[in-house]
Parts: sequence; C-alpha cells; structure tokens
Amino acid sequence: MRSFAGRDILSLKDFERAEFEHVFAVCDRLEPIARERRNTDLLAHKTLLTAFYQPSTRTRLAHEAAMHRLGGHVLGFADPKMTRAGDFYQESIKDTVHMLEYYGDVIVMRHFEQGAPAEAARWASIPVINAGDGWGEHPTQVLTDLYTVTREHGGIDGRTFVAIGDGRMRTMHSLGYALTQFDVDLVFISPEEMAVTDDFLGELADGNLHARRAEHIDEVIGEADIIYMEPVVQADYTRSRVEDTDDRGTTPANYRVTREVLTKAKRDSIILHSLPRMDELPADVDATRHARYWQEAYFGVVMRMALLSLVLGEMQ
Ligand code: CP
Repeated sequence: MRSFAGRDILSLKDFERAEFEHVFAVCDRLEPIARERRNTDLLAHKTLLTAFYQPSTRTRLAHEAAMHRLGGHVLGFADPKMTRAGDFYQESIKDTVHMLEYYGDVIVMRHFEQGAPAEAARWASIPVINAGDGWGEHPTQVLTDLYTVTREHGGIDGRTFVAIGDGRMRTMHSLGYALTQFDVDLVFISPEEMAVTDDFLGELADGNLHARRAEHIDEVIGEADIIYMEPVVQADYTRSRVEDTDDRGTTPANYRVTREVLTKAKRDSIILHSLPRMDELPADVDATRHARYWQEAYFGVVMRMALLSLVLGEMQ
C-alpha cells in the first residue's frame, strides 16, 4: 500500500481497497478523541489552510473541527470574493496556491470548477485535499459515508446501495469509483436530465462493479441496504454561488424517501444523506430507525481527523 504521507486526496478513482481499510482503521483509532470531545496535540505544529470557492457548512467546518481536535492551527477563506482570486484580479489557482503553501502545511480546497484541486496540487508542494470540485468528486464525503456504513452495518461487502437523487453530483461519482473496490450492487435513481452518464457506468463496469439505473424508489426500496440520498432540487455546482430563490421547485415522488416509502424497506436498511436536504427527505424520517445522517455528520469530523493526520505524516 502506498504511504499517505505527503499525498493529495483528489479522487477515489485511484483508491485501493487496502487504502480504504487503512483509513477506516485510523478513524477507529482517533474516534475516541472526537467522542470524548477531547483536544489533543497530534498536529500541534501543523496548520490547515481552507480555500473554499463555493459555500459549505459541513466540509469546511468538519476539517477545521478535526484540526482543532488534533491541536493544529487553521486559517483560510470561505468566500473567494474577499480574496484576490474573486475580485478584479481573478488571481489564478497557480498564483494563489504558491502563496498558500507558505502559510501552512495542507490545503483543503472546494471549487466550482472540476479539476481545480488537481490544478492546485500540480503547483503546491504541500498536500491538497479535494473538498468538492464542480460536478467532479467529493472524496472526503464518500470516505465518511463508507466509514459510516462499516460502523453501522459492520461492513460494505454484500450490500445493495441505492443512490437516489441528482446523478451528476460529485458524491455520486466518488461513490461509484469507491464501490468498485467492494463486492456490492449499486442502483442509481435520477431524473433523466440528471442521470449518471453511460460513460460513467462504463467506467464502473470496467472496475467490475454491477451498477444499473431504476426509475422509481418503489422499484428498489425492498432491496436497499444503504439508501444514499442527494437532492434533485439542486443548485448549479459549476457556479461559485447560487442565491436563494422563491422558485426552487419540488421533488417528484420517485426521488423522495418518506415514512410511507420506508414501510417497504428492509428492517435494517440505513439512510445516508450528505446534506443539506431539500424536500426529498422529510424531517419526520429523522425519528425512524433508518436515519443515519447525523451519525454520518459526526463521522465526518473523525474522517477528516484521520485524513489530516495521514497526509501530514503523523499517523502511519
Ligand atoms: N455534504 C457537504 O458537502 O456539505 P457542505 O456543502 O455543507 O460542505
């Protein structure tokens, strides 16, 4: 297995099964720190730089919380308009990361352009972690999600994943690539204009993953072990910011998981949602035994603790 020290985390396409297992094992070791709300000094001499060119609640703050839990330092920006990259100068990724690499030890970047974190990694001499790039990938989220599955279901192999919602989403891509390393079935349910592409399904087939499309949640709810949700009422992820609007639309029944739908679900199926949610997941589902998205959010901090410790060489 390749070392994680000094490594960029840009995509799950290049992750091997042993690497998933290793990251999950490091999560297991660090999790008591988060559970007991302790702060330690594992990364006391390290600084995290957050460069967020798109809004975020969870991803940025979970990385920052992870760094604080491990005794490290944090600086960065959450709004590119307040930097030279987002004003009149439109400073390039190359010029920006040439600055950032002098200010800290690891960069976590979210960007509206697919491939921007990879471009940053080309120029940065410190590790770059992709916190979501356009419709591209969201590797730290899906690592969190699969760790949640291992904790809540005891393992990943043998499960059926039903991925419901906008198939263009970066999480859907990272999920598909990740699951090529496991013995699972994967079903995508999306509106036609948001469907996963044939090229993407071909890539998954090349990875020997059985993935197919279905039309309506009712067709497959009885097979699902993991119900993996994204909204279909969605912002444009290729833009830096989409303002609030009165006309967001609503989610058709095909893509909603309600208490009524869950009456047909396996008793031990679990729902994951990276959030934020719209009307596809009503709040009254929170009190069902299927909901695991709050555990998922908690494990999001644990996963970022593991990734930061690994790429900074403090955990092996
Ligand atoms: N799940 C997720 O990426 O949430 P944020 O957009 O709030 O970071």
